[in-house]
Amino acid sequence: MRILIIGGGGTIGSRLAQYFGKDYEVLIAGRNSGDFTVDIAQSSSIAALFVKTGQLDAIICAAGEAKWADFNELTEEDYHIGLRSKLMGQVNLVRLGRDYLEPGGSITLSSGILADDPVAMTSSAAMVNGALHSFVKAVVLDLKQDIRINVVASGLVEDAVDKYKGYFPGHHPISMEKMLRGYIRSVEGRGTGEIIRIYE
Ligand SMILES: NC(=O)c1ccc[n+]([C@@H]2O[C@H](COP(=O)([O-])OP(=O)(O)OC[C@H]3O[C@@H](n4cnc5c(N)ncnc54)[C@H](OP(=O)(O)O)[C@@H]3O)[C@@H](O)[C@H]2O)c1
Repeated sequence: MRILIIGGGGTIGSRLAQYFGKDYEVLIAGRNSGDFTVDIAQSSSIAALFVKTGQLDAIICAAGEAKWADFNELTEEDYHIGLRSKLMGQVNLVRLGRDYLEPGGSITLSSGILADDPVAMTSSAAMVNGALHSFVKAVVLDLKQDIRINVVASGLVEDAVDKYKGYFPGHHPISMEKMLRGYIRSVEGRGTGEIIRIYE
C-alpha cells in the first residue's frame, strides 16, 4: 500500500508514519518538512502535491489549524483560518485526491473531540470539527463506490498534553496507541462514512 500522510511530521502524524511505515510505503507532506511540501489551506498547493505523488492507496490527513480564542475576541478573519485550513483543506484533499486513489483506496480525515465536547475558546475549532463530521456523512453518499472515507475524532492525545495544558479540564488523555487504532481501523478496515470517535 502507498500511503500519503499530510502532517506526517506532527504529533499524531509521526506516530501514524511510524506504524504504517513498517508495512507500507509512506509519503509525508507538510508545509515545512516531509517528502513533499504542501499548504492544505490553498487548493492549488494540494493540486500540485497530487501531481507529484501520483497514484495512492490511502490518503491520511493529520494536519489543519483553527484559531483558538475567546468568542468575544475572535474576528471574522480568525474564523476563516479554520475554514480555510482544517475544514476546506480537508474537503479539498477529498475533492482533488479522489482522482489519485486506486480502486479500494481510502481517505482518512482528522477532526477531534471538540465537535461533541467543546472546551472554552473553541467556537471556531469545535465548529470546524462538527462540519467535518457532517461532510463525511454526506460525501460518502456521492463518492464512487470503490473509495472509502472516514474521519477520526480523537480526544486530546497524551503526547499533546503539555502543549494544551489547562485547556481540557477533567478530560482523560488518549494514549497514542488508542489514537493510532482509530486510523488503523479507517485505513485497513472496510468501513466508510464513519466518524471514528476516540474520546475515552
Ligand atoms: N493533538 C491532539 O490531541 C489532537 C486531538 C484530536 C485532533 N487533533 C487534530 O489532528 C491534527 C493534527 O494534530 P497534531 O497535534 O498532530 O498537530 P501538530 O503536532 O501541530 O502537527 C501538525 C502537522 O501538520 C502539518 N501542517 C499544519 N498545517 C498544515 C497545512 N496548512 N498544510 C500542510 N501541513 C500542515 C505540520 O507540519 P508543518 O508545520 O511543516 O506544516 C505538522 O507536521 C490537527 O488537525 C488537530 O486539530 C489533534
